[in-house]
Amino acid sequence: MKIGVIGTGYVGLVTGVMLANNGQDIICLDKSNQIVSKLKSGECTIYEKDLDIYLNKAINSSKISFTDSYEDISDSEAVFICVGTPSNEDGSANLDYAFSAIESVIKNTNKDCLIIIKSTVPPGSSKEFQKFIHDKGYEHKIANNPEFLREGSAIYDFMNPDRIVVGVTDSESEAILRSIYDYELKKNTNFVVTDLTSGEMIKYVSNSFLSIKISFINEMADLCEKIDANIHDLSKAVGMDKRIGSLFLNPGPGYGGSCFPKDTRALQKIAEKNLCSSQVLEASVKSNLDRYSLMAQKIMKNTKGKSLCILGMSFKAGTDDIRESPAVEIMKILVENGYRLNCYDPISNENFKLLNIQNAETFDNIYDAAQDADSIVILTEWEEFKHIDLDKLYNLSKGKILFDLRNILNREMAIKSGFKIFNIGLSENFNNDR
Ligand code: UGA
Repeated sequence: MKIGVIGTGYVGLVTGVMLANNGQDIICLDKSNQIVSKLKSGECTIYEKDLDIYLNKAINSSKISFTDSYEDISDSEAVFICVGTPSNEDGSANLDYAFSAIESVIKNTNKDCLIIIKSTVPPGSSKEFQKFIHDKGYEHKIANNPEFLREGSAIYDFMNPDRIVVGVTDSESEAILRSIYDYELKKNTNFVVTDLTSGEMIKYVSNSFLSIKISFINEMADLCEKIDANIHDLSKAVGMDKRIGSLFLNPGPGYGGSCFPKDTRALQKIAEKNLCSSQVLEASVKSNLDRYSLMAQKIMKNTKGKSLCILGMSFKAGTDDIRESPAVEIMKILVENGYRLNCYDPISNENFKLLNIQNAETFDNIYDAAQDADSIVILTEWEEFKHIDLDKLYNLSKGKILFDLRNILNREMAIKSGFKIFNIGLSENFNNDR
């Protein structure tokens, strides 16, 4: 099937490349011709594990092409809308890019081309898009197909979905989506067919549910720390209950990224607009925001000097994305309080530099950043940090204090190297031997 994909950010590029690798004829459109020429030459414009391999495979098999012109998508039988839906100042989602993309698609394709919304849009938006199309005198149909891809594991998630959700208005649209995902249906992957608004709601509730789970485990971790209980055993045992599930029970410095904070804010707005209570979500959002200063306080209270080594600035491991990164939010509070930060991230240094945060200097490796630091603070769970040479780190640092806010180091080894270590959900004097 000939399929257009509008927008080549995380969602669009992964979707286009992976559908091409599953046999569809894909044309990806981006308004930036700089991005288009890079992609044409096989250069990945986003950091995502293995995406470059699949991109080049698709290019070599002529299954994917790139353009900045809507005229080139004119013979598409379906078009995925994968443009950004940033937050407005009041937290609601801004749909300007989506409306503009849809308008260009209807003007350049025939009426049988199905327009599939993959961008995360508030419940009710697809119906609005449908009305917008009809008001402009066109007959194209709208469907939606929310994505559940995690940055850093997007290829794996695309190839191993827990479910594919499609919101449609009729059986023809459903048939087009079934044909696009035929390779998954053959594997018996869950395929949920629903109406437009429920399709949109499923995405918001999934992200919000996961963020509530994280906020809750974070608060319980703080309680464990106070009462000398072990958060690792707690998460493990609680997660063994199938009704709860073992994933997203890792405590840390708070959730971040371009999805959870934005989508939880938007869902709150939707509830408010519909005069519905969203107290649970509200509490979780507040708890996550409070967490940044809680983490900064924990560091400041237990550090003597003003020089800190920061390890990890991305919002999680496996990505160079620093949007709404808890690490960056915590660092801003530390800088406001007069701390000097020597920072290192395996791949986010360049993105971080663009923020121009005063008194935060980036280094090319862990050990240069740790030189003479009063404390070392791990804020992102990079694999590289799990293999730190603790003895070397101890000798380089001045204060001999470690804050492992992702609980990735071996605590006993760190103590053995001479460090005083602070974790999340384990008390200061926590001893694993008990
Ligand atoms: C999230 C969802 O997981 C995807 O299903 C969804 O498609 C995507 O948003 C989206 O809406 O596009 P992502 O933002 O890439 O994916 O990252 P996650 O892996 O979900 O992590 C989000 C945040 O939660 C990170 O800051 C991470 O460190 C934090 N987290 C996650 C924890 O603190 N503890 C955990 O146990 C898990």
